Amino acid sequence: MANPIEHEEKVLLLEDVTIFQEEREILSNLSFSINKGDFVYLVGRTGSGKSSLLKTLYGDLRLTKGRAQVAGFELKGINRNEIPFLRRKLGIIFQDFQLFPDRTVEENLEFVLKATGQTSKKKMVQRITQVLADVGLESAKKKYTFQLSGGEQQRVVIARSLLNDPLLLIADEPTGNLDPEVSIEIMELFQRINNRGTAILMATHNHYLIEKFPGNILMCKDGELIEGEMEE
Ligand SMILES: Nc1ncnc2c1ncn2[C@@H]1O[C@H](COP(=O)(O)OP(=O)(O)OP(=O)(O)O)[C@@H](O)[C@H]1O
Ligand SMILES: [Mg+2]
Repeated sequence: MANPIEHEEKVLLLEDVTIFQEEREILSNLSFSINKGDFVYLVGRTGSGKSSLLKTLYGDLRLTKGRAQVAGFELKGINRNEIPFLRRKLGIIFQDFQLFPDRTVEENLEFVLKATGQTSKKKMVQRITQVLADVGLESAKKKYTFQLSGGEQQRVVIARSLLNDPLLLIADEPTGNLDPEVSIEIMELFQRINNRGTAILMATHNHYLIEKFPGNILMCKDGELIEGEMEE
């Protein structure tokens, strides 16, 4: 029988994973998978473990218990120097933008491409133009990121996350600081990205967005992960 963990459509598979912060168990015995093209919401009260789970998935917290495969990487025992390679397969979006304010949009994106080994100036320009077009920000290329609104900065962050053509986009409350209209624009953008085949795992407290943009739901509750439910 084929090993399900090697199924090519799966971008993520967790089996009996326990998430820790320091020595404390935050979430226990998680088992779930995400397939190519899935749109998955991660919900749950503040402090329920959403960010801790996401951090584990992109290698910011070590996985010590259970088995997890993310974008083809086994997380348990993953070598520190493999983590940048794992992250190149992922798009990671935080609530606080973590852009360099003293660099232009273009320079912020170029920084990532250089860090991931790109050396051709021509290819960098092409890719940057492409991802900025994807997020509707072609005209902001030469602006410093401090000159942009919150929604525009979030678009730059999304453009940045698309640079390496991710299999899975991990977003931790990407609309947390944005007004409702801009949040909807960001969600429409996620939908377009998702329709091209990138799976999305997004932590949010915003039930209105979940209703408007349906997806699968994972809820962190009382140290467990419950599939398909939503009540807080
Ligand atoms: N760096 C850390 N060191 C130790 N404990 C932490 C750390 N970060 C979070 N925790 C603890 O882990 C638990 C889960 O926190 P986490 O940030 O994962 O929750 P969350 O669901 O993302 O909450 P929110 O909705 O507020 O973002 C909390 O009890 C928190 O205090
Ligand atoms: Mg959080």
